[in-house]
Amino acid sequence: MATLLQAEALATAFEIGLVDCLISRGPAASDALAERLTATPRGMVFLLDILTESGVVVRSEGKYMLSREFMAVLPYRELMELKLALANLAARDILGGFTDLVMRPEQFMRGSSFHRLFSYDRCFGNDESDRHVTSRWMRITTLLTRYESAACMAHHDFSRYRRILDVGGNSGEFALRLCRCYPDMRAVVFDLPLVCELGRAHVDGTPERDRISFMKGDVRTDELPTGHDLIIFKSMLHDWPDEAALRFIHKAARSLLPGGRILIFEREKIAGVKQPFPFSILPFLIFFHSYRPAETYVGFLEQAGFVDIDIRSVNLDLPFVLITGQLP
Ligand SMILES: C[S@@+](CC[C@H](N)C(=O)[O-])C[C@H]1O[C@@H](n2cnc3c(N)ncnc32)[C@H](O)[C@@H]1O
Repeated sequence: MATLLQAEALATAFEIGLVDCLISRGPAASDALAERLTATPRGMVFLLDILTESGVVVRSEGKYMLSREFMAVLPYRELMELKLALANLAARDILGGFTDLVMRPEQFMRGSSFHRLFSYDRCFGNDESDRHVTSRWMRITTLLTRYESAACMAHHDFSRYRRILDVGGNSGEFALRLCRCYPDMRAVVFDLPLVCELGRAHVDGTPERDRISFMKGDVRTDELPTGHDLIIFKSMLHDWPDEAALRFIHKAARSLLPGGRILIFEREKIAGVKQPFPFSILPFLIFFHSYRPAETYVGFLEQAGFVDIDIRSVNLDLPFVLITGQLP
């Protein structure tokens, strides 16, 4: 998914059933694939050439098959397909809007259909259209979090916590992953009203449902619930200006149990990039103005009275910072 053409070729390979066909029927010649999938012979050669160049397929004795490397990542098909769709959407905003993105980010965001997907203002109502709009972007955040939370869990020991609060915890996906891994853990997800309703439905069918509760609120105006030994802010604070982010962290400090911890998991400020950005990270680059350096979060935690601050870097599509701090 490094370039536009490679990404689009892979999306097409999924869409027309080429990947499924190679899985179910094994290696095949280009002409045979064209016939089976009702492509033109030239179109199929073109597609297979790009897929060969990007390492999705290999050619042997005139027949094409999925490469070993691609088979190894195929279990993440759902994530790949999501990233391809998001990159396609983000590319439309960037084509023609790049100067605004660099020079006038607020203007860019106003015109960005990708940014408009995440309309938090629709999360206070509950009519059919609000539910439709909100569940559409929640599917995106849920799927990304399914994988991002695994990386976070690999870099921090959550076994010591019993009662966690995930602020802006969305569908409860992170809470679900944590509760599944730690049977003694209970979680509260604090989020906007409609997000909580849809989140409840998301976890309801799982064995962990009784250990996860949702609290409807607005972190701008409401205090956070008390009694937790861990408060998480994952991919949430970057949505807010410094003053608001600091205020939310102060709220967390007020509501945590003594000795409790805060954990921030966020994409890090982009600077000094050594390799070209792959096409697939366009959706995350759109928000590059909002990502902060780790030191900014450390400063916020210190101001709110946290000690024993720990910083880690976790390299996903872009580097994430994982910062924890403890109340005295
Ligand atoms: C970018 S999403 C991140 C969601 C989730 N933490 C994740 O990593 O997938 C930001 C979350 O903050 C929530 N949010 C936005 N404004 C909020 C507010 N004023 N109070 C509480 N939650 C809010 C959104 O509904 C959304 O779930």
